[in-house]
Amino acid sequence: MMLWEARYDPASPMPAFTELVSAWAGSDKRVFVLRANGPIGNVREYFDSHFFALGTPVPLAEDVTMGDRDNQRTEEVWMEVRYDPKHPDAYRHSLNAQPLHTDGSYIPEFPNATLMACVTNAGEGGETTFISSNTLADVMRIEAPELLDALSNMDMPHSRSGDERIEKVLDMSADAVLVNWNYYCLAKDLSPEMRRIAEAFFDFLQKSPGVSANTLAVKLSPGDAITWKDRQILHGRNGFKATKESERFLWKCAIDIGRFN
Ligand SMILES: [Fe+2]
Repeated sequence: MMLWEARYDPASPMPAFTELVSAWAGSDKRVFVLRANGPIGNVREYFDSHFFALGTPVPLAEDVTMGDRDNQRTEEVWMEVRYDPKHPDAYRHSLNAQPLHTDGSYIPEFPNATLMACVTNAGEGGETTFISSNTLADVMRIEAPELLDALSNMDMPHSRSGDERIEKVLDMSADAVLVNWNYYCLAKDLSPEMRRIAEAFFDFLQKSPGVSANTLAVKLSPGDAITWKDRQILHGRNGFKATKESERFLWKCAIDIGRFN
């Protein structure tokens, strides 16, 4: 199983936080969930003041109100994943299901993780979904061997906000398969062959029975936090129901788990 999960006491979180960091480095777990056993007043401030126990955050936040998709960097650590019907075309604010992807797809220096901390998430749906890169490769060996072959041999450029990252979508050269993928951040000048492969993979991820059967869905409650090894997992989100702004609200940041300066 790729899931590591622990309860923590917000008044005394160190045992659980320390265990997480040690499991991050010393196990093959890839998704880490901290379940709060009591309320937290201000979730963002709480995790801000506990980064020292988890790792080093990296200021890569974006804000949809700042401009078009290529000009949304704020230089801040935290960004909102918050239902807001004013921005139906931005996954961070919509209630749509979000297709599987990695967060660092177009950022060469992206740290080893994303962390999300939950303010509220009561409505139906809205689970964060995961499939490990190794499981995905195993599924593809059976269901789509030629596509696997193409994705593991072809460099696929991603770009956005002035950054570009060129990796194989699936790098099979180590025991832990490395994945780098976000359909919506693919470079605009892909060759026709790259475009064909990218479209086929996007389609595969949404229709494959093996992907669906092996996708883990994690529902967060207030005070819970989740982090994952971004290069070893695809993640996404189930759609959810909401009628009021901010009905689902998570704080999100990029972070190097287990790196302490
Ligand atoms: Fe994401």
